[in-house]
Amino acid sequence: MTATIERGSATAPVIPPEDVPAKKAKAAGAPARTAPPRSGGFLGSSSGKKAVMAVTGAVLVLFLVGHMAGNLKSFFGAESFNAYADFLRTMGEPIFPRRVLLSLVEVVLVVAVGLHMWAAVSLARRAGRARPVGYAARRRSRASGYATHVMRWGGVTILLFVIWHLLDLTFGAVNPAGWDGTPYERLVQGFDPSRWWVTVFYAVALVMVGLHLRHGLWSAFQTLGLASSRSYRPLRGVATLVSAVLVLGFLAVPLAVAAGVIK
Ligand code: HEM
Repeated sequence: MTATIERGSATAPVIPPEDVPAKKAKAAGAPARTAPPRSGGFLGSSSGKKAVMAVTGAVLVLFLVGHMAGNLKSFFGAESFNAYADFLRTMGEPIFPRRVLLSLVEVVLVVAVGLHMWAAVSLARRAGRARPVGYAARRRSRASGYATHVMRWGGVTILLFVIWHLLDLTFGAVNPAGWDGTPYERLVQGFDPSRWWVTVFYAVALVMVGLHLRHGLWSAFQTLGLASSRSYRPLRGVATLVSAVLVLGFLAVPLAVAAGVIK
């Protein structure tokens, strides 16, 4: 007997996900998979990939919290902000030479972003394979369509933003203050009102970061098994609050420069 699932006018056979043991799938009346079983241990399984997403996501969130707090130093003036930027390069001295710990953090960030994207693409492909027959009528639930768009296009926007951001504020390549300027000069000149489009781009990217983060946190809560019918609303509230604090904290700096509060 073949189990079927109704969706719009389409009737698709239910293919068991790869993690479901064959016995269970058979008991559910689903046909055996024709594709060869996948190896790869924990990291090859959906739960392994979700764990990779959660751990790398947590690393990135920690970085964002620290980065936002550091940026807010710009409200205390050039000296305070430049001292913070200098600390990033000198932390660990004299045990570690200048910039060694910062380079280590950079490597961790790049690896975290790489693994996060690998797990996301891999999980999305697996979800696609588990739905072998395309929906006859494009009647996806609105919620899943929204989440897919936010995570996929939000992720791409954030990646493009980070590339621009590094060229702008780290290397000064696209910044009026250039490489020779101090970090504070790059910050103030980068968000000069004449470059309003940069501020708009940052604002759009930061909203994307916020939406991506809110959905990511919510997914992580579910992966960790924290989301029950009782905790559903409070946990959604936590995800929204953390994301909003980060977005507003980040946005405060370019907006303050544009308004002449930071100059
Ligand atoms: C308005 C928001 C932001 C401002 C004003 C800002 C500012 C800065 C500044 C001034 C630097 C250079 C620090 C230095 O060289 O001393 C920097 C580096 C960096 N920022 Fe941001 N940032 C913002 C948002 C973000 C966001 C949302 C992300 C990630 C999604 C991000 C990722 C990075 C990375 C990866 C670096 C390089 C860190 C390193 O040197 O290793 N930034 N940012």
